[in-house]
Amino acid sequence: MPNLFDPLTIRETTFNNRAWVSPMCMYSSNDGVIQEFHHAHLGAFVTGGAGLVIVEATGVVPEGRISIGCPGLWTNEQAAAFTPIINLAHSYGVKMGIQLAHAGRKGGTTRPGESDHLMATPEEGGWEIVAPSALAFDGYAVPRELTKDEIKVLVNEWAAAASRAIKAGFDVLEIHAAHGYLLHQFYSPLSNHRTDEYGGSFENRTRFLREVVAAVRKEMPNGAPLFVRISASDWTEGGWTLEESIELAPILKELGADLIDTSSGGNVHNAKITPGPGYQVHFAEAIKGEAGVTTSAVGMITEPEQADEIISSGKADAIMMAREFLRNPRWPLMAAAQ
Ligand SMILES: Cc1cc2nc3c(=O)[nH]c(=O)nc-3n(C[C@H](O)[C@H](O)[C@H](O)COP(=O)(O)O)c2cc1C
Repeated sequence: MPNLFDPLTIRETTFNNRAWVSPMCMYSSNDGVIQEFHHAHLGAFVTGGAGLVIVEATGVVPEGRISIGCPGLWTNEQAAAFTPIINLAHSYGVKMGIQLAHAGRKGGTTRPGESDHLMATPEEGGWEIVAPSALAFDGYAVPRELTKDEIKVLVNEWAAAASRAIKAGFDVLEIHAAHGYLLHQFYSPLSNHRTDEYGGSFENRTRFLREVVAAVRKEMPNGAPLFVRISASDWTEGGWTLEESIELAPILKELGADLIDTSSGGNVHNAKITPGPGYQVHFAEAIKGEAGVTTSAVGMITEPEQADEIISSGKADAIMMAREFLRNPRWPLMAAAQ
């Protein structure tokens, strides 16, 4: 079995190690364009020794952003702003990825901490939010149900954003299909009450995600890895289950996805989750073990020995960390020394 500091090759892309930076919203973009802040923020991870740095949830269309301060990839200018950071990463032998996202019913918010209200008004740059069904997430506005034509347009917009990301120089693309955002809203029966071919059965609920994976893959060079972040469980009775995730993973692999970035939750506010060290690792382990698909594990992984054990015991192929990297962007150097 490999360990945390062994390289990992997926398609024709080799990561120097398996300690990766999980995507993290920073709410610090203007009109979807990243700013100088992001150079310092991402640059710290690049110089800190991570094998891969994944840029935060990035809207494939303006209405796909979580907040008015989230980055986007619907213009070439937005894409080009990433190139200097990607060049820096490559000069350090670090791979760069970006998470292509649509927030759906959990979008259209103000910048956290900067306002006394959640939903951004039109004057503040807010928009009408959309979803599979007109069901609100707790505290958010009631979304408008997407038409089938609008879904088709969004699949194309995902592909267009992927193409821009590849041109900007990204090594890895990740489709955000977790945490209660649009694609998760579709595959979870809790948020999808549609009666057309995008709702109802497992096949119908996963259709939008499958179409996005296929469309994005077409825009990518053969050697570049495609990741999909899923919520492996809704942790809620009547919701999406681990069994469905195990069924979905090989289908996504067949469509060209190379790694399932295994997270959980986020689609309903009253899910019964008991977070603790490594509390989502068993999901990554089950998908890797039972579906035979490459996975990364995420969630309260903070200690070098803990991270190494996940890899060396074969539970996942890589680990992602978010908050620990905010605390110590040079965690891999520290962990390697330890
Ligand atoms: C500030 C912050 C922003 C986040 N933004 C994103 C995001 O853009 N996309 C995503 O998939 N997860 C996001 N997450 C979740 C993390 O990527 C990660 O899955 C979660 O924090 C658990 O890992 P940790 O215990 O190492 O922090 C965010 C987490 C934090 C703390």
